[in-house]
Amino acid sequence: MKLFLIVFLFVHSLTLPGPIASGAPLSATHNATGGNLGFVSVFTVPAAFPTSVFQEYYVTPGPTTDGQPQPVISDPVSNVTYPFNLTDPNTRPTHGLDPVEFPSALANMTADEVSALLHEAITSIWDIAEASNSTNCSKCVASLLIGQTVAQFAPTWLPAVMTSLCKETGFQTADVCEEMYQPATYGAPWAQVLRYANVSGLDGHYICAFLSPNFCPQPGVAPYTVKFPKPRPNRTKVPVRSGERVKILHLSDLHLDTRYKTGSEANCTTGMCCRISSTQFSKNMAPPEISQPAPLFGSYKCDSPYYLALAALQSVEPLTGVSVQEPPAFTLYTGDLVAHEPEVTNGREYVQAAEVAVWEIFKAYIGGPIYAALGNHDSVPTNLESPHSIDNSGPLGQQFSWHYDHISRLWEHYGWIDNNAQSQASLHYGGYSVVHPLGLRIITINTDFYYRTNVFAFLHADDPDHSGIFSFLVKGLQEAEDQGQRAWIVGHVPTGWQGLNALPGGSDAFYQIIERYSPQVIANVFFGHTHEDQVSIYYRNNGSSQTASDALTTAWIGPSLTPLTNLNSGYRLYEVDTGTWEIFEAYTFYSDVSSFPALNDTGPVFEFEYSTRQAYGSAANWPDGEPLNATFWHRVTEAMEKDRQLASLFNTYQGKSSVRSPNCTSDACVAAKICYIKSGSTALGRACPQGFASVQSPYTGVNS
Ligand SMILES: *[C@@H]1O[C@H](CO)[C@@H](O)[C@H](O)[C@H]1NC(C)=O
Ligand SMILES: *[C@@H]1O[C@H](CO)[C@@H](O)[C@H](O)[C@H]1NC(C)=O
Ligand SMILES: *[C@@H]1O[C@H](CO)[C@@H](O)[C@H](O)[C@H]1NC(C)=O
Ligand SMILES: *[C@@H]1O[C@H](CO)[C@@H](O)[C@H](O)[C@H]1NC(C)=O
Ligand SMILES: *[C@@H]1O[C@H](CO)[C@@H](O)[C@H](O)[C@H]1NC(C)=O
Ligand SMILES: *[C@@H]1O[C@H](CO)[C@@H](O)[C@H](O)[C@H]1NC(C)=O
Ligand SMILES: *[C@@H]1O[C@H](CO)[C@@H](O)[C@H](O)[C@H]1NC(C)=O
Ligand SMILES: *[C@@H]1O[C@H](CO)[C@@H](O)[C@H](O)[C@H]1NC(C)=O
Ligand SMILES: *[C@@H]1O[C@H](CO)[C@@H](O)[C@H](O)[C@H]1NC(C)=O
Ligand SMILES: *[C@@H]1O[C@H](CO)[C@@H](O)[C@H](O)[C@H]1NC(C)=O
Ligand SMILES: *[C@@H]1O[C@H](CO)[C@@H](O)[C@H](O)[C@H]1NC(C)=O
Ligand SMILES: *[C@@H]1O[C@H](CO)[C@@H](O)[C@H](O)[C@H]1NC(C)=O
Repeated sequence: MKLFLIVFLFVHSLTLPGPIASGAPLSATHNATGGNLGFVSVFTVPAAFPTSVFQEYYVTPGPTTDGQPQPVISDPVSNVTYPFNLTDPNTRPTHGLDPVEFPSALANMTADEVSALLHEAITSIWDIAEASNSTNCSKCVASLLIGQTVAQFAPTWLPAVMTSLCKETGFQTADVCEEMYQPATYGAPWAQVLRYANVSGLDGHYICAFLSPNFCPQPGVAPYTVKFPKPRPNRTKVPVRSGERVKILHLSDLHLDTRYKTGSEANCTTGMCCRISSTQFSKNMAPPEISQPAPLFGSYKCDSPYYLALAALQSVEPLTGVSVQEPPAFTLYTGDLVAHEPEVTNGREYVQAAEVAVWEIFKAYIGGPIYAALGNHDSVPTNLESPHSIDNSGPLGQQFSWHYDHISRLWEHYGWIDNNAQSQASLHYGGYSVVHPLGLRIITINTDFYYRTNVFAFLHADDPDHSGIFSFLVKGLQEAEDQGQRAWIVGHVPTGWQGLNALPGGSDAFYQIIERYSPQVIANVFFGHTHEDQVSIYYRNNGSSQTASDALTTAWIGPSLTPLTNLNSGYRLYEVDTGTWEIFEAYTFYSDVSSFPALNDTGPVFEFEYSTRQAYGSAANWPDGEPLNATFWHRVTEAMEKDRQLASLFNTYQGKSSVRSPNCTSDACVAAKICYIKSGSTALGRACPQGFASVQSPYTGVNS
């Protein structure tokens, strides 16, 4: 306590700009259209909550209550029954009692020595900030070096130092500083990162660019060559089409909000809404006054309540024909099960309970295996994963293993993966490589290791495979090549589009891997994360030449089930050939979230939105019998160049036909959209015109 006061007093007197702060086969001739794919093309979900999905409830859904149900979640792996207060929307829980990991100190210092160290550190940072002869970037790096000394010798003090600097420099509001840098949220992870980072090298640049774009510019791609066990074969035996097609369901980003409060503020001004705490953020309004009460089935600025999750799943069978009895060949889930929980109210139990709840809901409606990739929200603290090598698989390298163990055991428990895949997932950060009974290899990876906000990914920033996720991916792909199999890669964070999400090194390494194994092995790639219906084409030669004959593989970025932010809720069904694992049809379904407030005696309407082939096939001059592959998608971009309407249509689907999406009718927007579709890497995406990438808010791009 005393030491904290010393730091606080020192920091209090500073006014420096803060450098530290911070299945069932279809017939081969099946020609499904929206109208006859399932049983209906429009399905009105019944109003009543399907209570049989859960055995017991703390709070039973209607007719006695208008609120969300609170099912009793019993964890089949840990055997824990999660308590009601974990998700009771009426209480504001504090951060749980999760362990907090600090790096070990390089020396055992006395309190006096620590005090002197902190004093010295603050004084030095003061001098750095005052200096007028250096750039923001070198000031930031110099300050990080001092922070590193604190992380090395007094690691448990780093959170207090960062919190104080954050507040006193006005880097963030006081509340945000307290929340961000307390040990249990990001304070302890920062101590680890600063302890091990090469602060004066590329790692430091990444850290400073992450803290603020005012500090250092975003680093570009560092030269890195992925090592492959074998050169690309001159000739490969490519599997031939079987003529048999199966259905595959693609769900993504449900973000189940187990603390959703019906009737709370749905149009709050900060963060995720529809929480009991949302009202306190509404400006110019007394707390009890609600401008828009959160509807039972969800809202545009909120994650999915139970009612929405169950409504979407109830619509799957009538719209797509797949169910428990008529299972798809398999289902893909491209990450993010858990709500956008503020970090202070997050915790291991909260995440685990949400995960069990989601899988229980899915398995009540869909048979067959579900192959899932972990998302950045499926972790505690959110966005973080640490490489095993941080301390040679010591306590820091294993600090997230509880999660990989737990979720992979759930997958095994539900019979979706076998014990061998469970062990792989436990070891490879949730990623695994399996061969489906019909012969397709499916490789899932934890993409947080190239996600821009995973601060552990800044360690050894010059080596995008420091975590080992890419060697794991390569190993699986090489096995597929050797065995004449085709492979699908399943992840969460896309590698391209406008170049925002993936770190440049990681996305470049991924692109090299795609190029090495496409199209002969990799048939398709699947991501989520953006919540929007998008697609990325990968080309030969690092995308330097983008013609129809250079197109190699497609990443399908699945639409989210959550409406957050300003989107409709949606999901997708593919029809796929079981020989080549090419996609022949992609059908997208959605529900108009703007209709939810007025729902009275029915649930929401889920309906067929579009068929990819029907929407773009004739404009792209694509023959009926050919697959929706990367060449097809390239032809679609060529068609968009000639016909702006087609890009505008893509834009409509991007937001799942949300009434809140901005339109894309200007030449500038169309050009940017085409560029994003053709950008499978961060480097390519960054070179596109910016400001037209996301339909979740008005475009900021310049219309010319
Ligand atoms: C699918 O159905 C449409 C409309 O009935 C028809 O024009 C088309 O030729 C069919 N395609 C195939 C591959 O059978
Ligand atoms: C949970 O219960 C099952 C069945 O009784 C048992 O096999 C398993 O070992 C238990 N797990 C734990 C972590 O206690
Ligand atoms: C919930 O209740 C249990 C037992 O009463 C208690 O130990 C725990 O701290 C409570 N958790 C929260 C988040 O309030
Ligand atoms: C600090 O002291 C502990 C307990 O005496 C000891 O185990 C540890 O090795 C010491 N660390 C260093 C770096 O000297
Ligand atoms: C800035 O000036 C200080 C002394 O005022 C000096 O020690 C330091 O090396 C200078 N830094 C640079 C980058 O020139
Ligand atoms: C840190 O980065 C610098 C600059 O890239 C490099 O010269 C140095 O060898 C690196 N240090 C370590 C310990 O890797
Ligand atoms: C340096 O940082 C200050 C304070 O954050 C900011 O106002 C200024 O614009 C930055 N300078 C550059 C060149 O980014
Ligand atoms: C592929 O072809 C090249 C040139 O024709 C030859 O040098 C190389 O050895 C061949 N590689 C394999 C694996 O057969
Ligand atoms: C939500 O609140 C903002 C003010 O915070 C207001 O500008 C906006 O119109 C509101 N949205 C709706 C749909 O009412
Ligand atoms: C896509 O399919 C077409 C038609 O079968 C084929 O000519 C083309 O080579 C395929 N493209 C890729 C990247 O496999
Ligand atoms: C909902 O429907 C009931 C009857 O079905 C009606 O009495 C009630 O006024 C309706 N409420 C709203 C808000 O429309
Ligand atoms: C598209 O959006 C722009 C900017 O909001 C608006 O000026 C324009 O009228 C819109 N066009 C159409 C066709 O809605």
